Amino acid sequence: MTTIRTVDVDLGDRSYPVLVGPGALEHGSEALAALCPNRRAVIVGDKTALDLHRARLDAMLAGAGLDPVLIELDGGEAAKSWTGLQALTDQLLALNIERRECVIAFGGGTIGDLAGFAAAITKRGVGFVQIPTTLLAQVDSSVGGKTGINTAAGKNLAGAFHQPSLVLADTGLLESLPERELRAGYAEIIKAGLIADETLFERLETAGASGLHGDALTAAIADAVAFKARIVAEDEHEAGRRALLNLGHTFGHAFEAEARPGALIHGEAVALGLVLAFDYSVRLGVCPQEDADRARALVEAAGLPATINTLAGGPYDAGALVARMGADKKNAGGAITLILARGVGKAYIAPGADVKDLTAFLNEEVTQR
Ligand SMILES: NC(=O)c1ccc[n+]([C@@H]2O[C@H](COP(=O)([O-])OP(=O)(O)OC[C@H]3O[C@@H](n4cnc5c(N)ncnc54)[C@H](O)[C@@H]3O)[C@@H](O)[C@H]2O)c1
Repeated sequence: MTTIRTVDVDLGDRSYPVLVGPGALEHGSEALAALCPNRRAVIVGDKTALDLHRARLDAMLAGAGLDPVLIELDGGEAAKSWTGLQALTDQLLALNIERRECVIAFGGGTIGDLAGFAAAITKRGVGFVQIPTTLLAQVDSSVGGKTGINTAAGKNLAGAFHQPSLVLADTGLLESLPERELRAGYAEIIKAGLIADETLFERLETAGASGLHGDALTAAIADAVAFKARIVAEDEHEAGRRALLNLGHTFGHAFEAEARPGALIHGEAVALGLVLAFDYSVRLGVCPQEDADRARALVEAAGLPATINTLAGGPYDAGALVARMGADKKNAGGAITLILARGVGKAYIAPGADVKDLTAFLNEEVTQR
């Protein structure tokens, strides 16, 4: 039987719990009520998730003695914009939200990132709670305090670190998630194993496609959250080790920026990015081929794209992808920083990528597979 697992993100007096499991919503209702001193729950919710789970959310809030104040938004990358941020901030100010109150994000990573950024800047920072409703948001974006929006120059280029005070990752909410979104979120769990948790990776390998559902999925979510919590506690503001969490993302963000609008979803780009990071590590002679093969096999077993030609939103051009990689936030001194791996569970930060070689590599990947 699955029980709720509590993972603590240890950040001194800003530490917070992440409750993971089916029923985390109700289990965490008292903790939520304690964060809503005016007895109102200001919820920034993804319309789709609200349509599907409104009755349960309302019952939980009523049980906790809270009145909901709902701001419904369309989820998706388009929500993470300057105009979206402005509109939401104005709405929060119109509600006269107080600094001791909380903005409660109820949705996927896009709603969480936007609502968190609005919470960070409204009145110089009001409280923040995450109720992630996608797998990606439960295992990754709801934990760690990175918030932000996309700009004309690229994804997530404006934002703030603003930690939540509570995260309720109710795995029951995932039952309504389309299979494609579920797979995309699974990419971030695979990522956690590949970075520094070979035991988790082996469990995922053993589970294969069955790891995407039921108790196996809940356990993997809790493990991935615990892994992320450890890294965030060590390096909250990404001065060093936290950059490892970007494994697959330098490639992934470039694909997202180049893809036909709306055709590609984040986790798919990350899945391919993981495979490419391992393939490129093999090319540089730092990673055994066998480990890259394991990464590719697990990505494929999860039904995720492992070659450029099977990635939605193409065709892709190697030169354009590398140009996009040049705009990544991790870069220093104009050189591209990649996250590469010496093997499964052995990711490292590799500054100063050779742009010519990277372009040649991607060109081969585009044409050969
Ligand atoms: N802040 C961070 O640390 C961090 C980390 C990783 C990713 N991200 C960001 O997260 C975003 C991606 O998040 P996402 O994958 O959750 O996308 P998303 O927020 O766009 O949600 C995906 C889709 O699922 C729908 N949906 C949400 N909950 C549902 C439910 N329970 N049932 C059915 N449908 C539901 C949404 O309406 C949307 O159409 C990206 O913008 C990425 O940059 C942030």
